[in-house]
Amino acid sequence: HPHFAYRDNALFAEDVRASELAATYGTPLFIYSKTAMLSALASYQRGFEGRDAQICYAMKANSSLAVLQVFARADCGFDIVSGGELERVQAAGGDLKKVIFSGVGKTRAEMCQALAAGIGCFNVESEAELDVLSEVAVAMKLRAPVSIRVNPNVDPKTHPYISTGLKGNKFGVAHEDALRIYQHAASLEGLKVVGIDCHIGSQITEVTPYLDAMDRVLDLVAAIEAAGIALAHIDFGGGLGINYSADDMPPEADALWRQLLAKLDARGYGGKKLMIEPGRSLVGNAGICITEVLYLKPGEQKNFCIIDAAMNDLPRPAMYQAFHAIVPVERAATETAGVIYDVVGPVCESGDWIGRDRILDVAAGDQLAVMSAGAYCMSMASNYNTRGRAAELLVDGDLARLIRARETAADTFRGELLMP
Ligand code: LLP
Repeated sequence: HPHFAYRDNALFAEDVRASELAATYGTPLFIYSKTAMLSALASYQRGFEGRDAQICYAMKANSSLAVLQVFARADCGFDIVSGGELERVQAAGGDLKKVIFSGVGKTRAEMCQALAAGIGCFNVESEAELDVLSEVAVAMKLRAPVSIRVNPNVDPKTHPYISTGLKGNKFGVAHEDALRIYQHAASLEGLKVVGIDCHIGSQITEVTPYLDAMDRVLDLVAAIEAAGIALAHIDFGGGLGINYSADDMPPEADALWRQLLAKLDARGYGGKKLMIEPGRSLVGNAGICITEVLYLKPGEQKNFCIIDAAMNDLPRPAMYQAFHAIVPVERAATETAGVIYDVVGPVCESGDWIGRDRILDVAAGDQLAVMSAGAYCMSMASNYNTRGRAAELLVDGDLARLIRARETAADTFRGELLMP
């Protein structure tokens, strides 16, 4: 990770020494690199050079306001999944016309809110939702721009919890029903059909599922347009993986899109407006979480390295058995053998582990960096065990700025009411 690298055995975030940030701001501490975010974005931008394309950052991956500002200022739109995320885009000054609204369970209130804000498109996930959205729009004397999320039924070969484009999960409409549902959408007074979309899953590291999905979607584009319904854009979703370890070797965004665009061109759709909804691939490797070793607890079967970050800060290992590299913040000048530890947090659950069987050369008081923590960490953080959420910093060159203050215990129970 070029933006989080060692200099003389000290881990740096861009040009700032991580241990100094931890000394100032405390731990657990998320540190993001603005340059890493922009360089991940640049790979997509290179891939789309000369094309009519809109990148809508899937902000669920990391919805901190300053992170949204980085992408808004780089001309990104946003893929949102709730009224709350829409308010975040507004708070960060994002362009509402470049907002698309995904999700299987939009409420009427959220539809109203998004219509009033003038978002670019609703990615509708069911026939029932089409009817409700049309009703809401008619009542507001508006027409809702819609695209329908189709389910290409390809296996993204990722974790079952984050694969979404297969039959038998709750997302999108079935490929074989799509044409009929498009015809229904086109007949509804409150809707204006503008596009088609799909999203097959997350942390995808292979090209083939994408190529297959593109073929399936383009088959539908042909059928829908043959039925007289014009589709102004194709939204190809997100899902491109990142390298959490040397075992994950996803393609670069520009290389992936070179292949996908070749397919679009070959089938005569090269001139269509393209949209994508990447989340993890824009921010995942642009963040780390610094944590302090509280205790070492040797045991007969396992040695535990107990750190001050936990599943409430870094939920991915507990939820998906996900792997995050864990490295020392200040590394010994001479390599030692190290000891094998399970790296665990203070939360009262056996599922509260961050890394298993990691070889570490550590003592209590040392700091560790949990890598690839820019996506789906802070945005999924909770207050379980009444742990305040961590602080966040955004680094740009030699400048580190606090973008989220550490939550206090009082923050965590704000809004709770005592009995009389
Ligand atoms: N578009 C839609 C409709 C989505 O559902 C998602 C993610 C994205 C775009 C962005 O996908 P990405 O480019 O980030 O893969 N919490 C899980 C990942 C859940 C993904 C949910 N949907 C994790 O930590 O691995």
